[in-house]
Amino acid sequence: MSELGKIRHIVCIASGKGGVGKSTTAVNLALALARSGKSGGGKVGVLDADIYGPSVPTLLGVADGVRPELVDGKRMRPIQAHGVECNSMGFLVDQGTAVVWRAPMIISAFRQILADTAWPPLDWLIVDLPPGTGDIQLSLSQSARVSGAVVVTTPQDLSLLDARRAIAMFRKVNVPVLGVVENMNMHVCRKCGHAEAIFGSGGGDRLASEFGVSVLARPALDPAIREASDHGEPLLLRNPDHASNRAWLELAEAVIRRCAEPARPAPKISIS
Ligand SMILES: Nc1ncnc2c1ncn2[C@@H]1O[C@H](COP(=O)(O)OP(=O)(O)OP(=O)(O)O)[C@@H](O)[C@H]1O
Ligand SMILES: [Mg+2]
Repeated sequence: MSELGKIRHIVCIASGKGGVGKSTTAVNLALALARSGKSGGGKVGVLDADIYGPSVPTLLGVADGVRPELVDGKRMRPIQAHGVECNSMGFLVDQGTAVVWRAPMIISAFRQILADTAWPPLDWLIVDLPPGTGDIQLSLSQSARVSGAVVVTTPQDLSLLDARRAIAMFRKVNVPVLGVVENMNMHVCRKCGHAEAIFGSGGGDRLASEFGVSVLARPALDPAIREASDHGEPLLLRNPDHASNRAWLELAEAVIRRCAEPARPAPKISIS
């Protein structure tokens, strides 16, 4: 049995557009699931599938130069960070080097990391996907039984357009879309308390109603989230009582709930 067989649920975090907060969502969701042990969470791993911009090890505070050890001369032992297991496509290349691999090489590296990571038995494996609807997304859906995809978007139209493609792609390859995270929502000024929708508002709801899915969480646009990430200690750990963590905890609850439901057939959609 491949190591993937020991994993209860594989959930991927995707977006059409880059920079909308996939990796931030992946890491905070992983930590929130690890905290919800008794209510459906449990042992969690994170796989960083973004070879062009691997950021999960940094977000989890893995020190530069740390690499997975080999078990049996072949399989990679994931790195433990903040109580979650982690492996990254970034570990396959030298840090600071430009990746100039052709698509087949990237796919084969991804297949290798999927098959050859010696994950312990996990309740959840969160896969942080690169942006877009490309080869890695397809390869994941063909190589593993994915319980569902969470599509991250920001509330403005440009990001939503790409999120539509991401949802349509998952439907086409029969990966259930668990719902949408509308990230970088309302910003509340730390000085005066004024709330402003810097990236607009209501986009996630429009997207969700168009595709018949739900908005699972609306993390605020909050400098505390970025600052914590920059320090390699996500906000849930750095400041567990911070109000902005509520969104990650709600997301974990929603993911647990939706993965416990029997899969419903998704409506057929064609990608234009
Ligand atoms: N809710 C938020 N509030 C404030 N900053 C955020 C929030 N979400 C993400 N960020 C910041 O925005 C930047 C981009 O986030 P992140 O790296 O998670 O995006 P991504 O979608 O994974 O990007 P890429 O497509 O490059 O992989 C980071 O600096 C992150 O700290
Ligand atoms: Mg990322």
